Amino acid sequence: MSEKEDKVPRRFFLEVFGKVAVVVALFAEAFGALKAFIPQVLYEPPSKFKIGKPDDFPEGITFLPEHKLYIFRSGRGFHVVSAICTHLKCVTDWNSSQREFYCSCHGSVFSENGANAEGPAPRPLSWHPLSFAPDGNFVVDTGKKVERYYKFTI
Ligand code: FES
Repeated sequence: MSEKEDKVPRRFFLEVFGKVAVVVALFAEAFGALKAFIPQVLYEPPSKFKIGKPDDFPEGITFLPEHKLYIFRSGRGFHVVSAICTHLKCVTDWNSSQREFYCSCHGSVFSENGANAEGPAPRPLSWHPLSFAPDGNFVVDTGKKVERYYKFTI
C-alpha cells in the first residue's frame, strides 16, 4: 500500500471523528443549558400543619410519631415540644415515671420542660407555637420556636 493510499482513509477517519466530536459537544452543551431550567430544589414537608382538634388530646402528654411532637394538655392550656433530640436528631422517649425525656441514642436526658439535663445534647428541646385553623384544628408551626412555658389557652 502506497503512502498516498494510506493517508486518505486516515484523513477521512479524522474528519468523521472531528464532526462526531463537535456534534456530541453541542448536545452536551444544550443538555447542560436545558438542565438549568429545571429547579434544583429539595422538597421538604411543610413546617406548618394541622394536628387535630383540642378534644383529640386528653389531659397529659400525647406523642404524635408522624410529626415527632409531644402535645401537652393541662386543662385548657396546650403546648408543643419537639421530640427530636438536639444532639444528633434521634427521637426521644417520654418517661412518665421520671417525668423526663430520654434519648436512647447517646443518653441525653431532658426535663419535663425540655431543658437539657444530662448527656451530650447541647440545647433544650424546641417548643413550637400553636394556633387555630378556621376549621377548629390546631396548627403547629415547627419552623418557629417559642419560649419555654408558652401556653396556648383555648
Ligand atoms: S442523638 Fe440524642 S443523645 Fe445523641
